[in-house]
Amino acid sequence: MPATVIVGAQWGDEGKGKIVDLLAQSSDFVCRYQGGPNAGHTIVRHGETFKLHHVPSGILYGGKICVVGAGCVIDPGLLVRELNDLEERGISTEGLRISGNAHLIMPWHVASDSASERRLGKLQIGTTRRGIGPAYADKAARLGIRVQDILDAKILRQKFETALAEKNRVLDEPLEAGDLADRMETCAARLRPYIADTSLLVDQALRAGERVLLEGAQGTLLDLDHGTYPFVTSSNPVAGAAATGIGIGPTRIDSVVGVAKAYVTRVGEGPFPTEIDGPDEARVRELGEEYGTTTGRERRCGWLDLVALRFAARVNGMTSLALTKLDVLSAFAEIPVCTRYRLPDGSETDEFPAHQSDFHHARPVYETLPGWREPLDDRLPPAARSYVEFVESALELEVSMIGTGADRESVITRDQPAYSRS
Ligand code: GDP
Ligand code: IMO
Ligand code: MG
Repeated sequence: MPATVIVGAQWGDEGKGKIVDLLAQSSDFVCRYQGGPNAGHTIVRHGETFKLHHVPSGILYGGKICVVGAGCVIDPGLLVRELNDLEERGISTEGLRISGNAHLIMPWHVASDSASERRLGKLQIGTTRRGIGPAYADKAARLGIRVQDILDAKILRQKFETALAEKNRVLDEPLEAGDLADRMETCAARLRPYIADTSLLVDQALRAGERVLLEGAQGTLLDLDHGTYPFVTSSNPVAGAAATGIGIGPTRIDSVVGVAKAYVTRVGEGPFPTEIDGPDEARVRELGEEYGTTTGRERRCGWLDLVALRFAARVNGMTSLALTKLDVLSAFAEIPVCTRYRLPDGSETDEFPAHQSDFHHARPVYETLPGWREPLDDRLPPAARSYVEFVESALELEVSMIGTGADRESVITRDQPAYSRS
């Protein structure tokens, strides 16, 4: 039965957590397929705020199975803290299942993430410094420590010895395998009950006709293969990776919901054609509360980029789009929307440039749409509807959900009277 992917369509922080939380209501399984604690998904439920980093956004409902798939990387200490926090707030974590094939972020990964950023100096990526890149690099180098290794203290110690023989050569403070294994034991004991064959579980659920949500972290433009390399993360957020990250076949996926803000933000370094240069940037940041969930950094803010969004619709095979934070634009009398890029040779294109130099030098060509200057409490004013329909016709894709506030309830779906009531 249906598996739906929820994928970020921009540079992350599009509001995926909230959309997943909403769709989780009518799902049985919610599964994270890539990324790690670089992700920060904020969910506001009846005024109470939850920030999730590892745990899928479906956890706030009891009775859902929430899977952390093989494509994820996990910082065991942070995950334990997240589980304790949730439980202290009365949220059961009983439904959590962690793939034994997911990789663990170790202290040397965190240390080398920061060291590499320092070394890069002005060329730094602006990572979250959570050890994501080094953990995925070790996974590819076949030096990684996997979740299933914590099931057996002897295996874990052996793996630590093998890894540390190499890592200690570059660590400022060398680590001792036995020590580390002892320190890990508390975390391991806490996490062991959640470890499961999650690929099998999801397959069985699909066969039984249950509804499965596959939740991406980060966003399309941060994808290792298709994003703005090297200013990307070290995994594949795109929808195609949901199948590998969970361990199901691509034929099991039947819809892909992209999530995009009604404008754009980016945390970290790298090209950003529609970044606002002027006081409107601070205004968007303030109104949208654009500060990183994971690092607290200011997010860079820009106008909606339809060239990049069309690219995201293509590489993900989106079947619909959720457009979040439309309420933030209520403050503006006029709203620029980028429909094309002007390239260094003077030509214009509405296709995302395949070559990095073209993208780095692309200048946005804007169309200015009228604002609505009123709150979106319980209906969309005609100008807000026109904004949504402009996006739909540029992308040839239905905008199925519109975010009008941070709270779980603040979403208008296309079929609600609130969409068309004027
Ligand atoms: P994610 O990483 O994609 O899950 O997004 P984040 O949680 O990092 O950032 C999105 C932020 O926008 C969060 O603080 C959400 O509570 C908030 N948010 C989500 N949808 C809306 C919306 O429609 N309107 C407003 N004003 N805030 C929203
Ligand atoms: P969610 O899931 C926004 C960015 C970092 C940096 C780059 C690489 O909340 O949307 P990394 O630590 O992954 O090696 O950093 O990717 N980045 C994110 N930006 N939202 C995220 O996650 C991000 N995860 C990583 O800022 O530019
Ligand atoms: Mg986020």
